[in-house]
Amino acid sequence: MKGTHDTIVILDFGGQYCHLISRRIRDMGVLSEVLPSDTKASVIAQNPNIKGIILSGGARSVHDSNAPKFDAKVLNLGLPILGICYGHQLIAHLSGGKVVRGASGEYGLMNLAVSKGQHTLAKVGKSTKVWMNHGDVVTKLPAGFEVLASTEHSKIAAYANTKKKIFGVQFHPEVTHTKKGSLMLANFVKNITHAKPSRSKAFLVDEIITEAKMTMGKERAIIGLSGGIDSSVAALLVSRAIGKQLTAVYVDTGLMRDRETEYIKKMFARAKLDLKIIDAKKEFFAGLAGVTDPETKRKIIGTLFVRIFEREAIKAKAQWLIQGTIYSDRIESGLTKHSSNIKSHHNVGGLPKDLKLKLYEPLRDLYKDEVRALARTLKMPLEITTRQVFPGPGLAIRVLGEVTPEAVETVRHATRIIEDELRNTKYWKKIWMSFAVFLPVRSVGIQGDERSYKHPLVLRIVESDDAMTANFAKLPFPILERISTRITNEIKAVNRVVYDITNKPPATMEWE
Ligand code: XMP
Repeated sequence: MKGTHDTIVILDFGGQYCHLISRRIRDMGVLSEVLPSDTKASVIAQNPNIKGIILSGGARSVHDSNAPKFDAKVLNLGLPILGICYGHQLIAHLSGGKVVRGASGEYGLMNLAVSKGQHTLAKVGKSTKVWMNHGDVVTKLPAGFEVLASTEHSKIAAYANTKKKIFGVQFHPEVTHTKKGSLMLANFVKNITHAKPSRSKAFLVDEIITEAKMTMGKERAIIGLSGGIDSSVAALLVSRAIGKQLTAVYVDTGLMRDRETEYIKKMFARAKLDLKIIDAKKEFFAGLAGVTDPETKRKIIGTLFVRIFEREAIKAKAQWLIQGTIYSDRIESGLTKHSSNIKSHHNVGGLPKDLKLKLYEPLRDLYKDEVRALARTLKMPLEITTRQVFPGPGLAIRVLGEVTPEAVETVRHATRIIEDELRNTKYWKKIWMSFAVFLPVRSVGIQGDERSYKHPLVLRIVESDDAMTANFAKLPFPILERISTRITNEIKAVNRVVYDITNKPPATMEWE
């Protein structure tokens, strides 16, 4: 991020979507850099490339004693500033306005009534849908500020101080639910900060290959290949960088998708990859026996993976472990200073402290759709690039309660049915993930004129662009009915099927 390119700085107050702001700016071809919330104004002032500053959202209230620290002198640098959610409240609070702890916060999609369609809201129209996620509200503006738009609960949902070039929005323009969000961010970046684009949108194949070469030099590496797009892309890029110094290891945990091992063999048969397949089913089921807590499951799985990789690394004389970790894995594992731990993605929070290998994650700053674009640039088979996402801990986090081989097989079988029924419909393309979840409770049913007392399965079918937010798929009832009938007919252990109609947030896509 060094050099002489125009840059937008994002100060990170710990919001789940902070990095997404940076990604949206990257999409405009403009460089952006995420810095800690307490970055000194003097540090920013020293860098003439910085054309604007965005204050991100965050989980705290400006009134909290443990609110993230901020150097208020940043507001007087004369640079254009945009506050988002917490940032919007913080600017108002520090400039003499009033922020009230919200008894009536807003969560979800709201209608924004635009009273002054200028500045950040230029060309947005009179009314548009915006996505809100806040408790506190700005109730009084500081002197010199004017309201640009409101919602039912936030009379000051967007403001401007044109003299000081300071702007705020209570909603999140960076999430795709905010219909005109990209336009609003572009209004700020292009028309207010006048930052110039400096890179093409074309993906960073060369940059990553060069970085990988420089990082590993002549040393050997192993990569955990899961069959998912992230590790496949990482494997291909790193193998282009260091060739035969790389060994790919696929661990069959017994928790993988249906016929995954065959798929891996077929997909990578033609790639010039040194591929090793390890059967570790017994090790994983033994490690998980009796465990019901979701975080403990993830940590056990993460540790088992790493121990296996360490064993294989010794055999391959490798010093490096490469992972296909992407940005959303890291943010949900609470890796930035103020973000909270939603769930420990097995390949992030699950890594043991005494890892005996050096870790390299070439995709660490990218989002899923960016990785997909990268895969297309690399001309990977359509089967890989359009594949549904699958969580690293596998079906263990789709079996609530104890993970037994029988329950895992039930989920696998039901997921196959769901996919069979959806694949040839027009809905398939829009679906991010479609799977079944096993619940460790039982309910009464009637099957073949007899009472049954068996487990229910949950159908979880969601649409998403970037995994940060998601909506449940509004599928027609006849499709859901076909899936339900097939599951209760074909799977003996199940007598009830329910459909999960929760979006993310408040739920996550997975149940654990
Ligand atoms: P959630 O459940 O957090 O999932 O809404 C977002 C996306 O991430 C996947 N996921 C994981 N992927 N390791 C992974 O590699 C994990 O521990 C993990 N947990 C969730 C999930 O399948 C969804 O696509």
